[in-house]
Amino acid sequence: MKLPFYLEGYFLGLQDPDTPDNIRFIHVQSDGGNRYTLKLAKPLRHLPWQQLTVGQPLRIEGQQSFQGLDLPPKLKAERVLFDPAGLPAFIASEEPPKPQPAVLEVCTRGTCRRRGALELCDRLQAEAKTCAVEVRTRGCLGRCKQGINVRRSSDNQILSQLSPQAAAELLSPWRTPAVVSGTAVG
Ligand code: FES
Repeated sequence: MKLPFYLEGYFLGLQDPDTPDNIRFIHVQSDGGNRYTLKLAKPLRHLPWQQLTVGQPLRIEGQQSFQGLDLPPKLKAERVLFDPAGLPAFIASEEPPKPQPAVLEVCTRGTCRRRGALELCDRLQAEAKTCAVEVRTRGCLGRCKQGINVRRSSDNQILSQLSPQAAAELLSPWRTPAVVSGTAVG
């Protein structure tokens, strides 16, 4: 029996990273922390999977087929979106890209929370009032051992091993340099 499934989660890696022309399976962690291996439908195998970073948000739709009561269903991905916010993956747009506000997404789950993610978030939100950055909380980025983790939208990088004291440094790329006026002496 086959039923449609829908999964939001995070890219964990490829099953066959050494065969870039024939990527058949990917590993994904759901927002709830469960890990899945999904078979890709043929049209998806030629997407540039190698360019994804671990922790990249994904939304996947497809079909699950049931093997038996004690076996997990087999998952086949038929459609993949790049970001749960709704941006399609790897689909080139005809329109020129619109400038996006910079976003810092702070993982506030599990290990990151225990290491002070909420405090980091509070500090970022307080300091971000003076620069053009949006600060959001989010679920697990799949790098719990390296927490606190923050995803930076401008280059899609996950910044790891952060502390609450890292807020000012994280925001520094978006700060407007102070204009200093004065009179030269001498
Ligand atoms: S708890 Fe997993 S990355 Fe933060």
